[in-house]
Amino acid sequence: MKIDIITALPELVTGWVDNSILRIGTSKNLLDIRVHDLRDWTSDKHRTVDDSPYGGGPGMVMKVEPFAKAIRDLRTKDSVVIMPSPEGDVYDQSVARSLLTEKHLIFICGHYKGIDGRISNYIDRMISAGDFILTGGELVAAMISDSVCRLIPGVISDIGSANSDSFENGLLDCDYFTRPPVFEDHAVPKVLISGNHKAIENWRKQDSLEKTAQKRPDLIKKLKNKK
Ligand SMILES: C[S@@+](CC[C@H](N)C(=O)[O-])C[C@H]1O[C@@H](n2cnc3c(N)ncnc32)[C@H](O)[C@@H]1O
Repeated sequence: MKIDIITALPELVTGWVDNSILRIGTSKNLLDIRVHDLRDWTSDKHRTVDDSPYGGGPGMVMKVEPFAKAIRDLRTKDSVVIMPSPEGDVYDQSVARSLLTEKHLIFICGHYKGIDGRISNYIDRMISAGDFILTGGELVAAMISDSVCRLIPGVISDIGSANSDSFENGLLDCDYFTRPPVFEDHAVPKVLISGNHKAIENWRKQDSLEKTAQKRPDLIKKLKNKK
């Protein structure tokens, strides 16, 4: 999978790309991730990427031209151009799964009051991280890239681990424990050190179900409605 991230603050993203799971995917040639400086697509001496809003009011607006030019240069027939935005579809594991089938993702990262509204003519979709406001789109581009790329077989060493995480089967994952067997009077559930694989599997299923019913009853309802 190829990912291009267009941002006015490339250092914000490069540190994460170079130090996250994505570095492993890149070193195995499973990923090709490039971070681009939006200012490379400006044409004035000051490499301006923002301006004051028409109509006045507080805050600056990111200019449409540099983004439009960058998209034009990077887009191929396989590209999906994503703009992180509070007005987009709210991101979840099913959206991550759907993006996994794409060959090329391009992220454009807004700041301030956002990108000039005419950007909607140049993008394919908007994705929201949830009902809260971040300073810029970089964290959302990183969040989406991380959650999609870890599902590519080979990026993390055991894809079975990713496939059994929360939301993959509609439920929260069970609890996990490791050594020591007792820590400050707190013992791990006995069944997990019994060596009985069937019993361990049953305990995990039960823990996952109970936890979901208690913490996320909406997920159980969703599963029931699917049937
Ligand atoms: C301060 S926000 C702009 C908020 C915008 N004026 C609004 O109220 O909807 C700057 C940028 O951060 C990103 N951003 C902020 N919150 C986000 C969220 N919940 N989901 C996705 N992107 C978000 C978007 O790229 C946005 O253009």
